[in-house]
Amino acid sequence: MEATIMEEKVIIFDTTLRDGEQSPGASMNSAEKMRLAIQLEKLGVDVMEAGFPVSSRGDFESVRMIAQKIRSVEIAALARTSKGDIDKAWGAIRDAARPRIHTFIATSDIHLEYKLKMTRDKVVKEAVDAVRYAKGFTDSVEFSTEDGTRTDRDFICRIFEAVIEAGATTVNLPDTVGYAIPEEYTELISYVRNHTPNIHKAIMSVHCHNDLGLATANTLAGIRAGARQAEVTVNGIGERAGNTSLEEVAMTLYTRAELMNLTTSVKADEIYPTSRLASMITGIVVQPNKAIVGANAFAHEAGIHQDGVLKNPMTYEIMKPETVGLASNRLVMGKHSGRHAFQKKLAELGYDLSKEDLNRLFEKFKELADKRKEILDEDIEVLVAEEILRVSDIYKLDYLNVVSGTVAVPTATVKLKIRDRVVQGAGFGVGPIDAAFNTIAKMAGSSSKLVRFSVNAISGGMDAQGEVTVRLKENGLVALGKGADPDIITASAKAFVNGLNHLEYMKKNPSLTPDQRDF
Ligand code: KIV
Ligand code: ZN
Repeated sequence: MEATIMEEKVIIFDTTLRDGEQSPGASMNSAEKMRLAIQLEKLGVDVMEAGFPVSSRGDFESVRMIAQKIRSVEIAALARTSKGDIDKAWGAIRDAARPRIHTFIATSDIHLEYKLKMTRDKVVKEAVDAVRYAKGFTDSVEFSTEDGTRTDRDFICRIFEAVIEAGATTVNLPDTVGYAIPEEYTELISYVRNHTPNIHKAIMSVHCHNDLGLATANTLAGIRAGARQAEVTVNGIGERAGNTSLEEVAMTLYTRAELMNLTTSVKADEIYPTSRLASMITGIVVQPNKAIVGANAFAHEAGIHQDGVLKNPMTYEIMKPETVGLASNRLVMGKHSGRHAFQKKLAELGYDLSKEDLNRLFEKFKELADKRKEILDEDIEVLVAEEILRVSDIYKLDYLNVVSGTVAVPTATVKLKIRDRVVQGAGFGVGPIDAAFNTIAKMAGSSSKLVRFSVNAISGGMDAQGEVTVRLKENGLVALGKGADPDIITASAKAFVNGLNHLEYMKKNPSLTPDQRDF
């Protein structure tokens, strides 16, 4: 009988909402996290690390809400090895259909000596006690050796053997500082698999950071050595240079299936919409040359390439853009689209809105459609972000007029609604955007500093919407503001006002501020 080749599956453990959120300035509010969680479920990830519940009340609440809502994905919560951390993690995920506690402790000598001030024996005991304690709550317990790639390999085997004996179902060996080289990581994972007697009782996991730009290569190297869980984030966001990017791992396994002989449950055509949403929510713009999801990932510029692609796309394209959801994402809406089509499009994009929200959004859609010929999915996503996901507004931009040019002093006249009051003001700046920001800040009485400003064209074409992201800082609080408009100056003013509203929201809900970690 002919042997059937069984493709093995790699578990996709998404940590965009936890390690991804640890990207400088990528904090998300609960509504934004929930929105992304819904999309991650649609994308088909197996496990979603929803947060680190002990880190702040806001994080606890977001994880709890996600655990209650998302039913088809295993929900993980991170915890150090203390009972307090594990209690918090469990408190947040107890309602999940499939809850997982992910506990970790550092294992490298450098961390033991300088950070933990613990002996190896003590670390093993802490880890075992934590896993046993977590196991009292849920069957699915993951254990990670923080700074694993700089840890003595026999110590990893020792601690893995002990935690598996205590009930760990997944053991993760992170390259916390992004230090490993692919061959080295393959060797390390193989060594640990061959020298941990009970390793077959657990899934081995890899978790890489991108400090040397090797996160995806290392993750694949670990998978080649037998790891069957990959910890990843959308767009590769995360601490410092980021984590392994979900789309790169999923599409490598998909595109090179004949070599890897491994599958994932990721729905490839949800990759691009997920990337867009994550970028919009976190304010972290995807670099144009980013593999799979960058604006240029499928753009052929050189004549020789264009010629080849026209003759046969396979000459220069190893993946089809529509496979990752790029082409289907370009379904065009316009001013003749009715409410029903609009609702259908929203559902396609994963938004199930109340009648009230739908009506409000439809009005905004019509206003935009009057200004632009084509409305793309990205435009609709921005409308949702502005109208539905936003915090309740204290400031609203009513009117903006800007004068600038080669000889004029840039001047802005602004009408701002502050709660129920309409105020008007004017001011100057070094350029039109600066003039608008100065004027709005003065009228709102804000001393916030602009720490980041970025403009992104949502789509090609002369009438493309400009999407502006600002980051404002005031008294240690950092808030993100987003705005979109065909006019970049208006988009900037909207983003600035949105940032001020977020700052107000954070001031009123200090315990719900993801940026303000408790430790
Ligand atoms: O990078 C790391 O070591 C981590 C652990 C908490 C898994 O994120
Ligand atoms: Zn990490």
